[in-house]
Amino acid sequence: MKQSIPLLLALLFSISCAETPHVPASSGAGRTTASSRNLASYDPEINALLAQMTIDEKIGQMTQAEQDALENIDDLSKYSLGSVLSGGDSDPSDNSLQSWTDLYDRLQTEAMKSRLGIPILYGIDAVHGHNNVLGAVVFPHNIGLGCTRNPELVRRAAEITAREVRATGINWTFAPCIAVPRDERWGRTYEGFGETPELAKSLGAAAVKGYQREGLGDPLGVLACAKHYAGDGGTAWGTGLVRKGIPGGRFPLDRGDVRLSEQELRDIHIAGYVDAIKAGAGTIMPSYSSWNGVKCSGSRRLLTEILKDELGFEGFLISDYAALDELPGDYATQIATSINAGMDMVMVPTRYREFMSALRKAVDAGRVPVARIDDAVRRILRVKFAMGLMDKSANHFADRSLHPSFGSREHRAVARQCVRESLVLLKNQGGALPLAKNLPRVHVAGRNADDIGNQCGGWTIAWQGRSGAVTTGGTTILEGIRNAVGSATKVTFSRDGRGANGASAGIVVVGETPYAEMDGDRRDLALAPEDAAAIANVKNAGIPVVVVLLSGRPLILGKSLDEADAFVAAWLPGTEGQGVADVLFGDFKPLGKLSHSWPRSMDQIPINEGDEKYDPLFPYGHGLTY
Ligand code: BGC
Repeated sequence: MKQSIPLLLALLFSISCAETPHVPASSGAGRTTASSRNLASYDPEINALLAQMTIDEKIGQMTQAEQDALENIDDLSKYSLGSVLSGGDSDPSDNSLQSWTDLYDRLQTEAMKSRLGIPILYGIDAVHGHNNVLGAVVFPHNIGLGCTRNPELVRRAAEITAREVRATGINWTFAPCIAVPRDERWGRTYEGFGETPELAKSLGAAAVKGYQREGLGDPLGVLACAKHYAGDGGTAWGTGLVRKGIPGGRFPLDRGDVRLSEQELRDIHIAGYVDAIKAGAGTIMPSYSSWNGVKCSGSRRLLTEILKDELGFEGFLISDYAALDELPGDYATQIATSINAGMDMVMVPTRYREFMSALRKAVDAGRVPVARIDDAVRRILRVKFAMGLMDKSANHFADRSLHPSFGSREHRAVARQCVRESLVLLKNQGGALPLAKNLPRVHVAGRNADDIGNQCGGWTIAWQGRSGAVTTGGTTILEGIRNAVGSATKVTFSRDGRGANGASAGIVVVGETPYAEMDGDRRDLALAPEDAAAIANVKNAGIPVVVVLLSGRPLILGKSLDEADAFVAAWLPGTEGQGVADVLFGDFKPLGKLSHSWPRSMDQIPINEGDEKYDPLFPYGHGLTY
């Protein structure tokens, strides 16, 4: 049961709900429709609320705990926590739509029992669809969307993701990632739209608009989070995270140091945030990485002076996962440094009680000014007001009328279109593509031909992703090929490419297997020997060879490119493998343009458009068609 609410608050809440029209329960249960108000315009209401809050309640709002790290569910109300998250592997036991929705409702019910009854924001990495949940449609990762050069399609994909996230009640996605990855050895290369700031600007803004739809009050939208500010994709080789207990100990690029002048940082890595802010992004996540030796999470220059004061960002900053723990000094110092630099909410994520008491002590000791706490909470509450969460008369639980459209055909059709438009035809000798649909026999090969997990990549069901059919539903590329050809065509398959003799054409689907941050950093991006062998085996059958590469970045192709008659970069297409077959068999012509320069050899990396000496295998923007 809710605790008593001070009269003033009750009055304010009733005013705010009187101002906003009701929408039918089926589309968001009484939340406000799109709001065009500036976030700062809520400040008068918020200041009145701040005056009612204790310092501990304010600190609670600044705290984000991992849902499965909650020591007691009633900690949500006891400490007035502002938010919970599900990190990459923090799922309810059976990972079903139903369980996620129940989990959200359970946590929200508890949070609203706090003295002031302020609902939580529930954050999740829905970075290419609601990718933690079984049965969700999974879109291509951003590197592929970058090749579409199609902001409207990116907006649509984000809008559908928001709808599927909302079906579980969750109201915040840690997306879009608008990293500008400059070194393909980085394991997060696929999370960015491409190597140029232009892609981060246009497609990042489109994604923000898609997630947040008509505005933060849109009941079918979710709060977006542009990440990771600033320079996550620009770290210098060898400066990355050192991890004890990991063989080799080092991830050479992840969470490393960006060694650029302020102007360069602005031109390449901050540019996307200017557009994300204009598009209305309610939150931004500072990066784990450092800029010239200073961690972004502790940089007052980056967080306060540039982002808030200069660029006018009125929303709030959410730290990355336990990012404060990587700052210099003891925990109290790490907290004081980051909050004073401008961090507003902290993804603690497990030792949240310790965090809250350490921050309280820092405030009492005068190490963190109360004015800074008030500014942080004001920013968090702006977003909550704008989202309609402070409307006491509204229903803040999941809208289960969205369940029937979860993972629906309509949603999958948009993902399939994203796949079609993201494919880049690198080579097409002798018009090998498109393939006719009436060939007597097509031989399919390669370890990625029939593997949903591999075609989805990292951040799919599991944090690092997972190979195999166990991950989530969808159509593999092999299945897509079987669906595309006429009944007269026989489709045979061998993983290693043997047995292709006598077929009219071979399609070899090879490339990477899933990884995400840290684990994905690689010294060597050569095509795996198993993949090169599969291509060679099909080539030896003396038939035309079409290679489809599934990867989170350009790989070093070596002689496999010569052996292929046609070569298609399909990135990490997600669950809708049919979109690949649509292009191979000519139902849809290739449109994709490279979002990264394609290196000839490892010693060319890093290679980026605009380099003084620029001699890539395929330049940025390359893409053939038929
Ligand atoms: C990643 C973020 C992500 C967060 C929460 C971190 O490890 O860097 O991109 O949003 O975890 O899962």
